[in-house]
Amino acid sequence: MFNVLHDESFRDYAARGLVETGITLPPEMVAATRAHYADKALGHNDFPKFFVDNEHQAYLEGAALGLFLNLFRRSGRKLVKRFYDKVYSKAVYCEQVRMEETLAHLMGNGFPRLFRTRYMVAAYDMYLRNDFRAPPAGVHIDLPNFHHFYETENDLSVYIPLVDLDEENGGRISVLPESKLKAPGNVLLGMLFDHFSKDPDCVDAAGYVDPNRISMEKIKAFVKTAPHQDIMRVYGSLNALARKHYAGAFKTTREPAGRALLFNNKNFHAAEQWRNERMDREVYVIRMFPLYDVKIRLKRRLHGVAINNFLLDMQTGRVHRFDEEVDVTRIPAEEKLPL
Ligand SMILES: [Fe+2]
Repeated sequence: MFNVLHDESFRDYAARGLVETGITLPPEMVAATRAHYADKALGHNDFPKFFVDNEHQAYLEGAALGLFLNLFRRSGRKLVKRFYDKVYSKAVYCEQVRMEETLAHLMGNGFPRLFRTRYMVAAYDMYLRNDFRAPPAGVHIDLPNFHHFYETENDLSVYIPLVDLDEENGGRISVLPESKLKAPGNVLLGMLFDHFSKDPDCVDAAGYVDPNRISMEKIKAFVKTAPHQDIMRVYGSLNALARKHYAGAFKTTREPAGRALLFNNKNFHAAEQWRNERMDREVYVIRMFPLYDVKIRLKRRLHGVAINNFLLDMQTGRVHRFDEEVDVTRIPAEEKLPL
């Protein structure tokens, strides 16, 4: 993360896990975001879609769930759906309705100063809502998956509570700072390139691996390879380590409505119980990642909708929105980070 974030924000991130952007969205923007998602049906939940064709990862969520998923694929999926229905009353991905205005506000209010790297891709947005009956989220990292394909160990999310998350309401996140424990992730990008660049059907004319050309059969073959199995084992043991030996090192911060934080979902994190019975917890998140000098193109769609189509230029302060995914082949090598 040292070459992604600027000195001060990097120090903040390394020591405290979360970066304070110093930017709070005006109440009318928070209200507009809440109003947009209020129209979505209760129970709309895009989470279970991530388990389809990533069932192997459920092993890390819990041995029983993983085993169940792999043995009984159809009923396993129902189990996952039932579980996530309890966790979120709404989980809406990739609407891209509130994204541009939010990003423009951030970029116009000092956001570029937080970064050392020139470009960040803003991949998609998500809205999460739950009531007091939802179980708290235990210690975990958001595992890389093939629906995203291009994920780095330094992905950063803009995390904006839409209601006050505090002592009384609960619902706050806590993060294990990178200075305590860091899970490797960029190595997976290298593994993906090594594996798929050997298959001419998966590579474009410029020599880039194109995830949009990779079939699910080919992904399943990669899952079985030794490098992938190795990294999954590492995630499994790190998870146990984080839960058992780092429980006291997680950090929290203030999370009033509208206050934008940066957080890396590849660091261990957890969310406390939401306690307010009169209103729901609501957060709005924009997932971003830096660009590395690995010849892998970006995915065009996530669950059928456009993603990876916003490019933030920290030098000019501009938000570029494209119809399709950011063309990483057109970004000069010197503006990418060494893998
Ligand atoms: Fe998470």
